[in-house]
Amino acid sequence: MSAITLDGEAVASRVRDELKTTVAGLVARGVTPGLGTILVGDDGPSGRYVAMKHADCEATGITSHHEHLPADVSMDDLLTVIDRFNADPTIDAYLVQLPLPKHLDEEQVLLAVDADKDVDGLHPVNLGRLVMGANGPLPCTPAGIVELLDAYDVPVEGRHVVVIGRGLTIGRPLSLLMAMKRPRCNAAVTVVHTGVPDLGRYVADADVVVAAAGSAGLVKASMVKPGAAVVAAGVSWDGKRVLSDVDDDVAEVAGWLSPRIGGVGPMTRAMLLVNTVRAAERRADAS
Ligand code: GUN
Repeated sequence: MSAITLDGEAVASRVRDELKTTVAGLVARGVTPGLGTILVGDDGPSGRYVAMKHADCEATGITSHHEHLPADVSMDDLLTVIDRFNADPTIDAYLVQLPLPKHLDEEQVLLAVDADKDVDGLHPVNLGRLVMGANGPLPCTPAGIVELLDAYDVPVEGRHVVVIGRGLTIGRPLSLLMAMKRPRCNAAVTVVHTGVPDLGRYVADADVVVAAAGSAGLVKASMVKPGAAVVAAGVSWDGKRVLSDVDDDVAEVAGWLSPRIGGVGPMTRAMLLVNTVRAAERRADAS
């Protein structure tokens, strides 16, 4: 068997096309959506990810604003930029690209972002809304994974979803979202992580596996139930290449598999645009 490819690039392109119409309508009302990004340092692939976010904005008619700070920026200087983004009416939503250099307090940074401009859905207020089931921006990678599975009619409701990883940006919010009583979710969710010996025991029972641990080659073909959907969301960086949490030969066993490149990444970026446009719609409705 060879798995159906969960083509995130194709699905994200459809999402962007739909957004273009919404953006054109907002521009006609005098509101051009604006996305901001703050990048600290030059390490790893973060700079490339941010550049792709700006390219997506341009393709969709969204204005983008960027601040690139040196790796040794002080907490005070970073907070000054955050205050400026909070106050700028042309920036509807923005993000501080994670991970941050170790000397910066990630929690304090996430708290400083105005919750109404939090495009990541990672501000404690928005994470609280997710826990409550209240409206708010959904974290982009979890929301993108739900959209991607739905685009390929992968059965999720009532099925067993195993989330590998408990990180703030993917595993933790995804496990909440997948368990919620809402269409395309409503699943039995198991969360496992690198502290659990014998991950294979849990993966073997999964109808859907989402690997989001950031540990290369964690999911082996021998672990996966034939026909299951496997989403490769976690990546790690060996200094030269981006490595996937999922071995390539999982494609021989799985029913669906997201590729290492062009799977979850484009969907995350598409959801970023969705959250930006929703924030701009709130601005337009308030004016
Ligand atoms: N780094 C990797 N993924 C993300 C994300 O979704 N948001 C932010 N802010 N940083 C990231």
